[in-house]
Amino acid sequence: MKLAAVILAAGQGTRMKTRLPKVLHPVVGKPMVWYALETVAALGCDQTVLVVGHGADQVRDTISNLQSPISNFQPSISTLQFAEQREQRGTGHAVLQARDALRGKSDAVFIVYGDMPLLRAETLKKLTDLHASSRATITLLTLVADDSMAFGRIVRDANKRVLGIVEERDATPEQLAIRELNCGVYCFDAAWLWDRLAHLQPTGAQNEYYLTDLVALAVRENRAIETMVSRDAEEMLGINTRVQLVQAEKIMRARINDALMLSGVTLIDPATTYIEPDVTIGEDTIIEPNTHLRGKTRIGANCRIGPNAIIRDAQIGDECAIVASDVTESIIEARVQIGPFARLRAGTHLARAVRIGNFGEVKNSRVGEKSHIGHFSYVGDADLGARVNIGAGTITCNYDGKRKNRTLIGDDVFIGSDTLLIAPVTIGARARTGAGAVVNKDVPADSLAVGVPARVIRKLNDK
Ligand code: UD1
Ligand code: CA
Repeated sequence: MKLAAVILAAGQGTRMKTRLPKVLHPVVGKPMVWYALETVAALGCDQTVLVVGHGADQVRDTISNLQSPISNFQPSISTLQFAEQREQRGTGHAVLQARDALRGKSDAVFIVYGDMPLLRAETLKKLTDLHASSRATITLLTLVADDSMAFGRIVRDANKRVLGIVEERDATPEQLAIRELNCGVYCFDAAWLWDRLAHLQPTGAQNEYYLTDLVALAVRENRAIETMVSRDAEEMLGINTRVQLVQAEKIMRARINDALMLSGVTLIDPATTYIEPDVTIGEDTIIEPNTHLRGKTRIGANCRIGPNAIIRDAQIGDECAIVASDVTESIIEARVQIGPFARLRAGTHLARAVRIGNFGEVKNSRVGEKSHIGHFSYVGDADLGARVNIGAGTITCNYDGKRKNRTLIGDDVFIGSDTLLIAPVTIGARARTGAGAVVNKDVPADSLAVGVPARVIRKLNDK
């Protein structure tokens, strides 16, 4: 069965009280519509149309950037198109906007909203499988729940056959008592949908084109209607307010955390552990409380991360420890120790067994194996060899007001406390600087430089 998908995301989201289009509000670091895109990709939909309206340009731009290979977010979806619904005239009218793009392209059309990020791909796979095997004209996902959440009601006859869907605002008191609800998720026979949709008339209290009216129409035409009944209200949560946004965020975060724990990661306190969907973590790593792992972060095995670590788009090798530190866009090899209170900015590469202590900042620099930056230092635009010791208070003066200049430090160098390295400058292998040195000229290998400005006072190997 060839399947196409329509994701509805044109609505304003009035109750969010926001200028940002509702479907762009993040849930665990991803715009909420990303989850719908991921899900339709998991279902193997050949074609997907996202119906946009409110903030159409912004939604289109954001999603197109999500698709860009350099971005952190990349919905695994190949054939996404956009359709614009200029005026929000109801769900039937919204789906109609996808007709030109999809008519004749699939056997079935799967319809879902962009504001239901908790729907699980497995549930929707069952729905599309049921649709394929039953060959029904419409297959509906319904929910039996006590709280109606203002959803439409599924009206059935005495033989439990579906007769139609009635909106809460249009329902009679008897209909309001119905506990079976319409989730807004459907599979339609494609040819039938595209034909009948054009004939929908506006109805109801709001004079809208109701997609749901197609159910009664199918009944009148004696067509088969299938339902898949769920009792999991949590999964059907639609986000209309910021309160619901936080509910969804909590549930999604718990799902991610549970999956990690089941894969062999220890989370000391999942309630205060914030991990985004693309993050991977190796076995036996321990995540301490109040840790935020974002973007495309990858963490190896046997690490100890946190408490109070914020890591974005970084690769961390095995057996590392990162305490109370901020790490962004960095590559950290195995057995590195960071923090507390270190900041690693973009372009940092720490080789094996490096140690960065309190109040060390490193940016756009490579630090060789077993080098130490113990206390209060800024290392920017630098290349450090192996076994370098950077004394407390060392600063690479990398910026001359116009250009960023590099500092090169050879293997086994010892930089005395409070050294200023005025780049561009090179410190040769095994050289040393005295405490408080202001180095504005290259220091040859195996020599000791001291003073302001620093000068070489002796060779170290002919002492
Ligand atoms: C719809 C269903 C209702 C169901 C409920 C589940 C209809 C007539 N009713 O309610 O039976 O229980 O969903 O949430 O279909 N949208 C557009 N363009 C529009 C209108 C809506 O893109 O013109 C999008 C919204 O952005 C939203 C989704 O469709 O993502 C649902 O819209 P909403 O107004 O919340 O649903 P209802 O029509 O009230
Ligand atoms: Ca509506």
